[in-house]
Amino acid sequence: MKNELKRIAQVAWKRNPKENWERATRKLSGQSTRSDLRVATVDEWWQLGRAYPLMRRGSHTPLKDYGYLAILNYIDSAHPKRVFEFGHGLWHSGMDSLYTRTDIELWSCDDNVGVEYYADRQEWQTKYDALKAKYPNVHFVQMLLGDPEKARGIIPNNYFDLVISVSVLEELQPKVFEQVLRHAYQILLPGGKLLCSMDLVIGDIDTLKARISSVRQCGFEWKVDETALKFIWWDNVLMEDQFMIMVGYQRQEGETRHFRGNYTTVMIEAVKPRAA
Ligand SMILES: C[S@@+](CC[C@H](N)C(=O)[O-])C[C@H]1O[C@@H](n2cnc3c(N)ncnc32)[C@H](O)[C@@H]1O
Repeated sequence: MKNELKRIAQVAWKRNPKENWERATRKLSGQSTRSDLRVATVDEWWQLGRAYPLMRRGSHTPLKDYGYLAILNYIDSAHPKRVFEFGHGLWHSGMDSLYTRTDIELWSCDDNVGVEYYADRQEWQTKYDALKAKYPNVHFVQMLLGDPEKARGIIPNNYFDLVISVSVLEELQPKVFEQVLRHAYQILLPGGKLLCSMDLVIGDIDTLKARISSVRQCGFEWKVDETALKFIWWDNVLMEDQFMIMVGYQRQEGETRHFRGNYTTVMIEAVKPRAA
């Protein structure tokens, strides 16, 4: 009898995998399948690329490409005047589209955090200086976001309409995550927007819920119904290049490295309340 039930369940799963996936994820979240959460899809990447044909290409960094496309699309529709990016790295796929714009005042901050896949200190500095020379319109600040005392007199508070980042937040420990977001809140104007892509393993609802809670804890409004979270059906979800993860991002784990799972990205779309 038990085996028969198992067999029926397997047949049912095969017959309608999409519905069963949604049922499984609903079970995972314990609630309904409604959600405002924006999880990257291949179709959305394709549509967003229409206005930026340079980014409609094969890529080893699809999640990063998507993040910058989503940000460029937002800038084109909302026309923010002052934009602040944290964690630009030494190069990113959105740079030639974003850092050459003259219709926005763009500030950008980063510093060498010793990430293995980048470069040693000397090489990092040389590349950073070259970046500053290449994009003279951008106001580069060599420091990390998250320490308002250190940034006093360097990064203005209550100044920016938009704070952005791509593939940075998932690298931060929960405490640092909150420090960075509190600082982002401080430099934003009331009514200003935080628009950041955050990568995570597909289906990792626990991490997602914890981060939603942190974003709100820092004072932001983020209209996500966290009681109804679900990940969309995997046939359209945008995924990180698996070989890139193993060869590049997990490099420091050596010969015994083990693939931790497929990553996608979600957009944090939060607002500093006007009354703040
Ligand atoms: C994975 S890289 C992403 C780089 C770039 N955004 C891209 O998509 O190619 C993460 C970057 O975030 C930077 N970063 C980490 N913590 C930061 C912080 N608190 N403030 C600014 N940048 C930070 C790191 O130095 C690194 O350059």
